[in-house]
Amino acid sequence: MTTFTPVKTGNTEHDTSRLRRLYGRYPTGVAALCALRAGKPVGIVATSFTPVSIEPPLVSICVQHTSSTWPLLSEIGHLGISVLAEDHEYVSRQLAAKNADRFAEVSWFASDSDAVFVDGAAAWLDCAISQAIPAGDHDVVLLEVGSAAVNESVSPLVFHNSMFRTLSIGV
Ligand SMILES: Cc1cc2nc3c(=O)[nH]c(=O)nc-3n(C[C@H](O)[C@H](O)[C@H](O)COP(=O)(O)O)c2cc1C
Repeated sequence: MTTFTPVKTGNTEHDTSRLRRLYGRYPTGVAALCALRAGKPVGIVATSFTPVSIEPPLVSICVQHTSSTWPLLSEIGHLGISVLAEDHEYVSRQLAAKNADRFAEVSWFASDSDAVFVDGAAAWLDCAISQAIPAGDHDVVLLEVGSAAVNESVSPLVFHNSMFRTLSIGV
């Protein structure tokens, strides 16, 4: 039988880790958000990437207010989203690292619009930031997709329960 013992939110200290764990139960892909700034690549990874609208083509990400890189990307106003592939666990860790050269050993390329993409990703989206909606300790950011490409030859990386995973096809 299923055990269902919900706990009300409200106790902030307790909630933080409980909610983090709960949100982590939801499996996601992993996206790299990168652009060229003064000729150098800057970027972060985000599991909050979500497709939103077909017409117009919109996607969203949720960015924590503590991010020091987001203000740089936001100022550029234009960025590349790479849907990371199953062999990109290193890339994901690297692009989220503190006090490190995030692009060390990461193979990337830039578009004419200075969007930066990760080589070998499962999909690439060239995006312009449309609007940011404050939502608690994050901003929900909507981005308009200007162009995109799919790489059918690789499977996407999956993030679940704070772990990187790969897809397996069910029978
Ligand atoms: C697997 C993974 C998923 C992440 N998802 C998000 C996210 O959805 N939104 C976000 O703001 N930061 C996310 N981060 C954190 C950022 O990638 C980055 O580490 C953080 O913004 C701190 O770096 P910064 O101060 O340079 O911005 C994630 C990190 C990892 C490792």
